Amino acid sequence: MKHVNLRIRPRKWILAILFLAGTGLSILGIPGEPTAIRPGETREMALRREAESKAAFESAYHVFMSPRCMNCHPAGNVPLQGDDSHLHTQGVRRGPDGRGLYALKCKNCHQDANLPGEHMPPGLPTWRLPPEDRPMVFQGKSPRELAASFKNARFTGFASIHQIIEHVEKDPLVLHSFTYGTRPPLEHGEFAAKVREWVEKGAVLPDK
Ligand code: HEC
Ligand code: HEC
Repeated sequence: MKHVNLRIRPRKWILAILFLAGTGLSILGIPGEPTAIRPGETREMALRREAESKAAFESAYHVFMSPRCMNCHPAGNVPLQGDDSHLHTQGVRRGPDGRGLYALKCKNCHQDANLPGEHMPPGLPTWRLPPEDRPMVFQGKSPRELAASFKNARFTGFASIHQIIEHVEKDPLVLHSFTYGTRPPLEHGEFAAKVREWVEKGAVLPDK
């Protein structure tokens, strides 16, 4: 009996090592292995779904990074302006609540609606940057980094990743960005559908 046991044990070890290595590879997101397989899915179905999720995010990314969106999601504490996203002139700064620092409030110039004419300030009652303690930076992020930020509740303040769908579908600031100047590269409806597809297919992080 002892003799038989000795022959089985080493094989169990090999299986255990192979299993752990496989799990490790799938956690690292090695291409060719899905990060998660949903009930009823084959490995191939999961791979296809995850590729579609990433592709949807990559399309939406071009909207997030377009000047109409990124100008209010800057890396620093100064909003950006124009199609070249230069720093906002006149010494405008975020301020703790995003509505401007000291007496230089966004509202001084940005009215409740867009003002007609070249180089006039666009406007909406809620015109502001995200607050200082949660600045929601898009500028400078790769698709993978931006997607990871959206999945981080400390970045968004969202309890669940699903809230981003509602935000891009209904938020007045988001809708407004499609109403003036050089428009973002997708129509609003297409963009919101891409964000929804990204989330519903698993909110998978793009490779880069
Ligand atoms: C006038 C400035 C402004 C513009 C323009 C703007 N945003 Fe925002 N954005 C904000 C503010 C302020 C918040 C925080 C909202 C809140 O706390 O309710 C925010 C929050 C968000 C959020 C949720 C939180 C997060 O993770 O960043 C997303 C997503 C977002 N914006 C996407 C967009 C997209 C897409 C566009 C362009 C179509 C856009 N924003 C244009 C000011 C802006
Ligand atoms: C002193 C007046 C003034 C103040 C104060 C001001 N802005 Fe502006 N802002 C403008 C003008 C004018 C433009 C349009 C510039 C142009 O098109 O050349 C503009 C443009 C912008 C743009 C560019 C929009 C786009 O899509 O390219 C953003 C973003 C912006 N402002 C955010 C803010 C925020 C946020 C605040 C408050 C923290 C603020 N501004 C305060 C005058 C002001």
